[in-house]
Amino acid sequence: MNLFVANWKMNMTRGQARAYAEQLGQIVGDGRPRVDLVLAPPYTALDAARDPKQRWSIAGQNVAAQREGAYTGEISASMLADAGCRYAIVGHSERRRLFFEEGTVLAHKLERLREANLTPIYCLGETEEERARGLSAVTLTRQAETLASDPAAAPLVVAYEPVWAIGTGQAATAEDCANSCAHLRGLLSHRSDLLILYGGSVTPENAPEILDRGGVDGFLVGGASLSAPSFAAIAGLTKNPGS
Ligand code: PGA
Repeated sequence: MNLFVANWKMNMTRGQARAYAEQLGQIVGDGRPRVDLVLAPPYTALDAARDPKQRWSIAGQNVAAQREGAYTGEISASMLADAGCRYAIVGHSERRRLFFEEGTVLAHKLERLREANLTPIYCLGETEEERARGLSAVTLTRQAETLASDPAAAPLVVAYEPVWAIGTGQAATAEDCANSCAHLRGLLSHRSDLLILYGGSVTPENAPEILDRGGVDGFLVGGASLSAPSFAAIAGLTKNPGS
């Protein structure tokens, strides 16, 4: 089943999250949606974003590399599980770039998630400079190495998120996406339960084309996921609210 993840980043108070969940619930209706929906709110809004009817799941945007203890400001995998999360995002480019997270620490985060039975949404993608130098595939190969000791039979979501496309309004073309996703599927061909998402300036307008021809199983959406109607349109649950 296709998967659509709303990455709210550092946006949304609890009140805003509750209003969003209410609106999304009205759009989805009472049955289970025909795609998998995930909301990744900030930690403080996890509970407010949760759906008692389980029509969508919730995800942490990050997780501590350690199990527990004296790590002021961190949130552990077992705390995420306890808060009702099914997934957690690991290796988002903002974490890599702004918080200096790299391979070793990300591998520890993956281990912690597996211990808590959470499914990682592992992000990777090349920078503008790597793309310009023809290093896109090399970069993806290097970043995928972090998954080397992650159990091959466990469910895994990988999000291809080229850094140059995130928050820039310049989404990858379906062709870019298809090339990178084919490369990733080759690297991860031993995985038995793998979904590959695309992320980077996804909108209700460009989503159908990338989903159709980009070789992806869904999207990780930032900016355009901050409105429930827009997120629902990207997930194909309604028509584009802007059209
Ligand atoms: P964007 O963010 O959709 O705002 O480009 C995507 C992401 O960072 O996951």
